Amino acid sequence: MSFMRINNLKVHFPVRGGFYNTIIDTVYAVDGVSMELERGKAYGLVGESGCGKSTLGKAIIGLEKITSGSIYYKGKNITNKRRDRKSIYNRDIQMIFQDSHSSLNPRKRIQDIIAEPIRNFLNLTPKEENRKISELLEIVGMPEDARFKYPHEFSGGQKQRIGIARSIATNPKLIIADEPVSALDLSVQAQVLNFMKDIQDEFHLSYLFISHDLGVVKHMCDHISIMYKGRFVETGTKYDIYNNPQHIYTKRLLSAIPKVTPIGREKRKRERIKVEQYYQKEYKKYFDEHGRVLDLVPISRTHFVATTSR
Ligand SMILES: Nc1ncnc2c1ncn2[C@@H]1O[C@H](COP(=O)(O)OP(=O)(O)OP(=O)(O)O)[C@@H](O)[C@H]1O
Ligand SMILES: [Mg+2]
Repeated sequence: MSFMRINNLKVHFPVRGGFYNTIIDTVYAVDGVSMELERGKAYGLVGESGCGKSTLGKAIIGLEKITSGSIYYKGKNITNKRRDRKSIYNRDIQMIFQDSHSSLNPRKRIQDIIAEPIRNFLNLTPKEENRKISELLEIVGMPEDARFKYPHEFSGGQKQRIGIARSIATNPKLIIADEPVSALDLSVQAQVLNFMKDIQDEFHLSYLFISHDLGVVKHMCDHISIMYKGRFVETGTKYDIYNNPQHIYTKRLLSAIPKVTPIGREKRKRERIKVEQYYQKEYKKYFDEHGRVLDLVPISRTHFVATTSR
């Protein structure tokens, strides 16, 4: 049973310009996206820079105004509802922001940053609150004395871990994790990802995991959606996407994953060229005359592809 349902969601931004600062164009950042999320599952959102991943995440937690479409949480329509700061929705849905630097208030100490959701949603005594903050810092591998410092005293990776500590403080149901590890060293990346998996099992959490890294998503997610120009080109289980990709854009993304080993490098290069030629040749089966991604059609119970050729 899904606890969240997103129907044909659109977020369009007007572009203003000219002498009178009038609306001269529109950015179709998210342009008709539907998803169903179940408890305890991890959903991956992959696509190139600017395709609308962060906008979709922000629209879900209510930071971006929804142009049309709807979001249902536990059966309730919460689209563009003015959400009370202390509402259950705000407690249950948390986000780890892509830009951890600007998402942490520079004038607050770390302990107050982490305590903010705790104070909003949990009724703890000051002593319990203190213990909870220590516990969260330990979970994300930060020293106890970090709590007295300010965000600018930390590196990008450390700030990202502080963001994670804050996001899990209130035992949320869904964490939208926007590139949570892309600013981290490889060794720390694995550590944070494994940690996120552990808390997922422990708290039966769901993730909407945003990344441009298909390897990270493969490691973390059960279900994957590939996004291009504000729309899903393909969505399916991890198996569907990696073992049976159908959309030319998905194939192109997969063929572009760099491999560490030099063995077979030439062969992979030839394959990439083949995929590219195929992309040009088959383009019309996957995009309309304006270059817009077609609607998704099912090819199995779990696997959907935006194409005409079925
Ligand atoms: N507030 C805004 N006003 C106007 N355009 C915006 C706004 N926010 C985002 N956009 C545009 O919407 C599109 C999608 O942006 P978004 O940040 O969602 O991309 P993204 O997939 O998260 O990219 P990245 O991987 O680089 O983080 C981009 O073209 C961006 O320029
Ligand atoms: Mg983004």
